[in-house]
Amino acid sequence: MRDLYGRDFLSMADLNADELASVLDAADAFKRSLGAGKVKRSLEGKMVALIFQKPSTRTRVSFEAAVYHLGGHPLALNAAELQLGRGETIGDTGKVLSRYVHAVAIRTYGHHEVEELARTAEVPVVNALTDLEHPCQVLADLMTIRERLGALAGLRLAYVGDGNNVANSLALGCALTGMAFTAGCPRGYEPDERIIALARSLAGPEAVRVVHDPREAVAGAHVVYTDVWTSMGQREDQRRKRDLEPFRLDGELLSAADPEAVVMHCLPAHRGEEISDEVLDGPRSAVWDQAENRMHAQAALLDLLVGG
Ligand code: CP
Ligand code: NVA
Repeated sequence: MRDLYGRDFLSMADLNADELASVLDAADAFKRSLGAGKVKRSLEGKMVALIFQKPSTRTRVSFEAAVYHLGGHPLALNAAELQLGRGETIGDTGKVLSRYVHAVAIRTYGHHEVEELARTAEVPVVNALTDLEHPCQVLADLMTIRERLGALAGLRLAYVGDGNNVANSLALGCALTGMAFTAGCPRGYEPDERIIALARSLAGPEAVRVVHDPREAVAGAHVVYTDVWTSMGQREDQRRKRDLEPFRLDGELLSAADPEAVVMHCLPAHRGEEISDEVLDGPRSAVWDQAENRMHAQAALLDLLVGG
């Protein structure tokens, strides 16, 4: 499929439903071919720059591993060590990097920075997490849900906790795949209003809900997802913890979900805060598969965007 060739991936909404299904199929295919030792080295002779303005374990290593498996060369760059850290604009950085590398993935704060990079770079730009979205995470999450539960359409996913970047991308990912999405968040911690409106415009108003009672959110859900209460760049304070406490994903809250519900967390987890050990390490947890699938999903994505 060449439809995605040369494009940016900044938001889940950059893909339509068919394109998303193709990326997920390609991710499954990559995973199978890696297992069989038959990966096509479609990035041979190509470099991918990975810029990090925030810490990362999974995203950095899974991107590096993905590029390696495809025969390309990954170049991880700590933004503080670039001239970016001394005031060179993101736009100028994008123009320059385009002369050396074939794609750029960037993790940063403001979503506008990723958009600015995409405007100026002449090569595909991939969002490796902003304050608004974490779309690469959600590609791996959808892949993982399909592995566990088969088809996505008709499933119900509940996200409980802080309505953050992961929740935003999940709302869009569910809307694009026919999954019902419910966010259960305290008042003041809801997902981004514009993202929710966009998800509703894609899937219909009843398919995308925001509620303020954690048990109501989780009731009957096939997938229960949570993430940290304080994201990178946010100030950790006692008030946040107090407000989010009732939304902790523990055995009691999970008992309101479907008896076979899959538990998800993008990691890193703050054990005992947003999720209990028994749930994170329990038999329904898919978190380690999610982490592994980051590599497969990103390999498929890079192959589609820049593979030869
Ligand atoms: N889930 C995720 O993006 O993890 P890292 O912050 O470790 O990259
Ligand atoms: N919401 C979290 C996700 C980390 C992968 C953060 O932005 O810190």
